[in-house]
Amino acid sequence: MTENLGQQIKKSKEVAEAIENLVNKTMQYNNKIQSVAPANPELQTHMHKLAQEIDHVRGRPLFYEFIGSGAGNGPYVELEDGSVKLDLINGIGINILGHSHPRLIAAALRGALEDVTMQGNLEPNLQYLRVSKKLVDLAAKGTRLKHAWLTTCGTMANENAVKMARQKNSPAKYIVAMKNAFAGRSTLMAEVTDNPAYKQGLPHFDDVLRVDYYNAKDSSSTDKTLRQLKEWVAKFPKDIAVFSFEPMQGEGGYRVAPREFYLPLLDFCREQGIAVWADEVQTFCRTGELLAIQTLDIGEKVDIVTVAKALQNGATLYTEEYNPQPGLIAGTFSGSSAALEAGIAVLEELSENQYFGSGGKISKIHQGFVEGLQALAEGSCKGLIHEPGGLGLMIAFTPHDGSREKMLASLKTFYKNGLIAFGCGRDPYRIRFLVPAIIQENQIQEALSIIEKSLLETK
Ligand SMILES: Cc1ncc(COP(=O)(O)O)c(C=O)c1O
Repeated sequence: MTENLGQQIKKSKEVAEAIENLVNKTMQYNNKIQSVAPANPELQTHMHKLAQEIDHVRGRPLFYEFIGSGAGNGPYVELEDGSVKLDLINGIGINILGHSHPRLIAAALRGALEDVTMQGNLEPNLQYLRVSKKLVDLAAKGTRLKHAWLTTCGTMANENAVKMARQKNSPAKYIVAMKNAFAGRSTLMAEVTDNPAYKQGLPHFDDVLRVDYYNAKDSSSTDKTLRQLKEWVAKFPKDIAVFSFEPMQGEGGYRVAPREFYLPLLDFCREQGIAVWADEVQTFCRTGELLAIQTLDIGEKVDIVTVAKALQNGATLYTEEYNPQPGLIAGTFSGSSAALEAGIAVLEELSENQYFGSGGKISKIHQGFVEGLQALAEGSCKGLIHEPGGLGLMIAFTPHDGSREKMLASLKTFYKNGLIAFGCGRDPYRIRFLVPAIIQENQIQEALSIIEKSLLETK
């Protein structure tokens, strides 16, 4: 078959070799990073100055004095001051394959060779099709999802989800959302989000009706939430467009609910013609399957799913029924060519190399990490670690007394000692890890030692 020039570039042996050479040359540097290391005193002022410039230019300091040097290896990242940290938050979940993964660097380089840096919905290249198709193929297992629409972040994928639900169920307008939900940073997603600190000074638009999330300590939790949902439906008949939920709450405190909690809620929504939307922006690829609704086996009940972070892009997945009319969703950008190629590489790596499934790598990492935290909680860190747990690569615990001050002090001490984590939840304030899927057993042990040392320091 005749090949166009683009195909010839993609098949060129010289181009492929040049990419391989670049990856190999870069990895010669990256492979020198093998463990946590302190800053190089000669580079400390250099990084400090850069951090101050960031503070100045954006008008707010960084949470951590962190500026990546561009080098890393697996879970390790090198900073501008030459220090090496064990990165168990990876950009709040973007870098699921850690740092400097050769497959991802090669993919991004291939993407960088496309004729355009950014692709759009009007003039896509092949990566647009390949990533959307791979996503839909993998998401089809146990669900009714048929289509994918790309965006460049989770918030925009969520905006599209609400628009699709509202259009299909027009003129219904309300969104039901859980207490402690997080949905992103646009005006509407700030409404869906249940955290007053994230919307100080913003007006209320009263688009959102709240129900309780699952409470493992209350045996009537499911009945209570179902009753609240029924009360809203009675109060606003035919005016609720969508029921939204995170299959596992992220910012809300890394709380997990069982299948039995969701089933009656989702069945009731379906009876009432309310769209069921799962926000999987954070859970995507992390719970042992591609989607947490697959892990929880509730896929058949869901109409719309949003994903981002690990995909290196955003996307809204939806059933045939919720396919919107032309004109409702569009937008200039669908993603950079490098990010789309990298997204394909993430999906291929995770789906082809035994990461998913009950005996998969993700499940083993979860077990090793949580058992390690549990052992600390019962041993040297008694009273300093509470409720360790989570799902897959999303792991959290409550430090000390669960106060904000102690949580922040613990995080800063982890950081000083070479480990990067982040907070979540409120009352109690928790510490969360978005563990990269490539972490090795000895690196989990290294993380646990830093956690132990830091918690004892902050006692
Ligand atoms: C559950 C959830 N939804 C939406 C978002 C927003 O995604 P983004 O920051 O890519 O806009 C996030 C980000 O943390 C999230 O965790």
